[in-house]
Amino acid sequence: MHRLVNKRILLGVTGGIAAYKAADLVRRLQDVGAQVRVVMTQGACEFITPLTMQALSGHPVHTTLLDPTAEAAMGHIELARWADLVLIAPASANFMARLAHGHGNDLLATLCLATGAPIAIAPAMNQQMWADTSTQKNLLILQEKGIKVFGPGSGSQACGEVGSGRMLEPLEIIQHAAEVFDYQLLTGKHVVITAGPTREAIDPVRYITNKSSGKMGFALAEAAAEAGARVTLIAGPVNLPTPSRVDRVDVSRAVDMFEACMKTVEEGCDVFIATAAVADYRPTVTADHKIKKSTEEIHLTLVKNPDIVASVAEHNKRPFTVGFAAETRDVVAYAQAKLVNKKLDMIATNDVSGSNVGFNSDNNALTVIWPGGHKVLPLASKAQIAKQLIELIAIRYKD
Ligand code: C5P
Repeated sequence: MHRLVNKRILLGVTGGIAAYKAADLVRRLQDVGAQVRVVMTQGACEFITPLTMQALSGHPVHTTLLDPTAEAAMGHIELARWADLVLIAPASANFMARLAHGHGNDLLATLCLATGAPIAIAPAMNQQMWADTSTQKNLLILQEKGIKVFGPGSGSQACGEVGSGRMLEPLEIIQHAAEVFDYQLLTGKHVVITAGPTREAIDPVRYITNKSSGKMGFALAEAAAEAGARVTLIAGPVNLPTPSRVDRVDVSRAVDMFEACMKTVEEGCDVFIATAAVADYRPTVTADHKIKKSTEEIHLTLVKNPDIVASVAEHNKRPFTVGFAAETRDVVAYAQAKLVNKKLDMIATNDVSGSNVGFNSDNNALTVIWPGGHKVLPLASKAQIAKQLIELIAIRYKD
């Protein structure tokens, strides 16, 4: 059920006896790693209290459209944008009718109009109500609108009748919900990305570093998370906010980055992307105290740092390994050589001799090379380049 890890599920609960099962559904969605927020209709509040759902979900439950306090915390438009999936369980006959006809007369109906996320319903009602021609017509309209319908199941009902209209069990609903995300390029995959520079201490106040801003790695982390992956971002010292849904590990020295990377590879990951500008050398010794100015010359002895991406590519649990190469001349030739020498599956290379791409810039242009092929990604924002590169990686990774 990896497909639901970190997914944002907006659970809409409408009025019906099956509303009590929504409480279990919240727990089970959280068990598979989903983030859950709950919206309840007035009808739902007659069957189960918002307090129960708040306690289970760990977040305030939204019940009314015109509640200034709730709107100030997370307004209805923000909630609609937040969701990766709007899941209505149970969905009553009344709610199906309102959804089919585009009503916006309560919070949940409005959210359904305002969201760009997929919507799924798990109908629950008396078998006669389910069989009614109006409900069946509404069902057709909903399906035509692209709304997914999970169930209903059939069997004995709370009203004592037997037939179709029972809400599916929470685990069955979760199974269907997971399938909604199957279309995503990296759903269920664990992607590890290194980003930024490293800092190699000379003494307690001085260090060797480079101009890497970390922007490309952070953009890739965001794009990979958007593509459905679980993302671990191993970042050197940079001044950037962590993209949402990304696990960040902060490191400073190359050897710390090396250890953090080896740990994630050891634990198992699917794709490794090395964007970090790792310092090639570190001072052989770090002085315990600030080095004092005295002689005209001082000499630093440097020792080579481990090559992280090459070590990952050699690991017996080797993920699909992607390197970066920033060059100022003979860009493609150097990158080709690195692809072979470091045993990579793919290398993204850019010319950093100009000022409009590469280090610290918000834009980039890449030539992506793999054994037997290449693709040029022309100048665009790092966010757009990241999206295109993630697509290329997903395609090559599946080959
Ligand atoms: O050899 P060079 O530094 O040019 O190679 C660049 C690629 O290798 C980048 O993907 C960079 O993140 C990675 N690298 C590394 N560990 C190092 C040096 C570079 O992972 N010590």
